[in-house]
Amino acid sequence: MAYTAKIGPSILSSDLSQLGRECERMMECGADYLHLDVMDGHFVPNITFGHPMVECLRSCIGPDPFFDMHMMVSRPEQWVKPMAAAGANQYTFHLEATTNPGNLIKEIRESGMKVCVKRGNNQFCLRPQNVGLAIKPGTTVEELAPWAGQIDMALVMTVEPGFGGQKFMEDMMPKVSWLRSQFPSLDIEVDGGVGPDSIHRCAEAGANMIVSGSAVVSSDDPRSVIALLKNVVIEAIQKRSLDR
Ligand code: DX5
Ligand code: ZN
Repeated sequence: MAYTAKIGPSILSSDLSQLGRECERMMECGADYLHLDVMDGHFVPNITFGHPMVECLRSCIGPDPFFDMHMMVSRPEQWVKPMAAAGANQYTFHLEATTNPGNLIKEIRESGMKVCVKRGNNQFCLRPQNVGLAIKPGTTVEELAPWAGQIDMALVMTVEPGFGGQKFMEDMMPKVSWLRSQFPSLDIEVDGGVGPDSIHRCAEAGANMIVSGSAVVSSDDPRSVIALLKNVVIEAIQKRSLDR
């Protein structure tokens, strides 16, 4: 059991005019990574930002925070290299958005290997991005399964992608349970409507990477919410290891 509990705030619901500061605030409050939602107004009916903003964010926040790019875009092939060069750590694409997942996985793995960028007076050589594979609520987990051995993380959407602040879809939990039973060491992420009210279901089903937007970002006490979410997942992981 190699996976650990990680909480990744989605900054979609934050004050986007202060994005750098908001990301720093989340890291200071105990976030393990940052979940950055890229929307192209085509794959989903909303639009956010692209790699130029990620590059600015990376320069502003420094090399450490892990950027999980949730690519809600129609042509995920197009942004692999620009995102690597901008400083993304994980490229999570939607299975529904590509006809050739195998090739895209390969391209993501190779991205960054030969990319060196100049920042100020320093030259940085980037690392290849991790691969995340996401499915919308209407996509079955059996469609994802053939790729599970080649990816770093599976993302089970618990809302229709496109907007923050939607209601958690509990009926997605059998997908998470099935993935956990079939792929015991895979990182499994849930995204959409996850907060103190729904975290127990996610943790019991076997999710270990928890995206939480409005529940964390809009809270008066994000540190406590992040700690609560993380403790629930840690306890579920410990219980699962005792049950084995
Ligand atoms: C929705 C995005 C989510 C969203 C989560 O399409 O992928 O990351 O921002 O926000 P909450 O937790 O508010 O549903
Ligand atoms: Zn997301």
